[in-house]
Amino acid sequence: MKNIVIFASGSGSNAENIIKYFKNDREIRVVALFCNRPNAFVLERIKGFDIPAFIFNREDFTSDRVLDRLKTLKVDLVVLAGFLWKVPPHILEAFPHQVINIHPALLPAHGGQGMYGMRVHEAVIARGDGESGITIHYVNERYDEGTVIFQAACAIAPGETPESLAGKIHALEQAHFPAVIKRLLENK
Ligand code: GAR
Repeated sequence: MKNIVIFASGSGSNAENIIKYFKNDREIRVVALFCNRPNAFVLERIKGFDIPAFIFNREDFTSDRVLDRLKTLKVDLVVLAGFLWKVPPHILEAFPHQVINIHPALLPAHGGQGMYGMRVHEAVIARGDGESGITIHYVNERYDEGTVIFQAACAIAPGETPESLAGKIHALEQAHFPAVIKRLLENK
């Protein structure tokens, strides 16, 4: 059995989708949700799935508390799904090539600190890009710069708004993220 944990900070639509996808999987299971915001909606979403939630603060993250919990859970893959803090080096070193993130644009475009959620879609529309998409990538010590694992694109329609683009990106995330995780773990 391969063990996944999900880190999320907000709404948690990706976290819920991943949890549902692997609910009856024989080889891969989601063993915990890690959340840095006690009021995040993701904590409501996962009620009823029998997935333990671990709420942590910065000190837990930068000390060994989160790391120790990950080791105890025998984690094979750490999945950042709408998680907005930089992962500290001691965790990345303990899990080489085992921490991945999803970004709602075609990196290297529209990445970096402060680029998350609607801000990304607003930037894509403001620059007049012809397409956007999703990027799933390994996490390193810099925001949105790790090796790309997977990308999927969508066209920007005439009159596209950040809100309508967010809907397209959401659909791409729902369609691809769990399957990419599955493929990654099957090849490990
Ligand atoms: C997702 O669109 C994800 O790609 C994005 O936050 C959203 C979280 O939605 N992540 C980033 O912007 C990271 N820089 P969710 O909480 O409903 O899964």
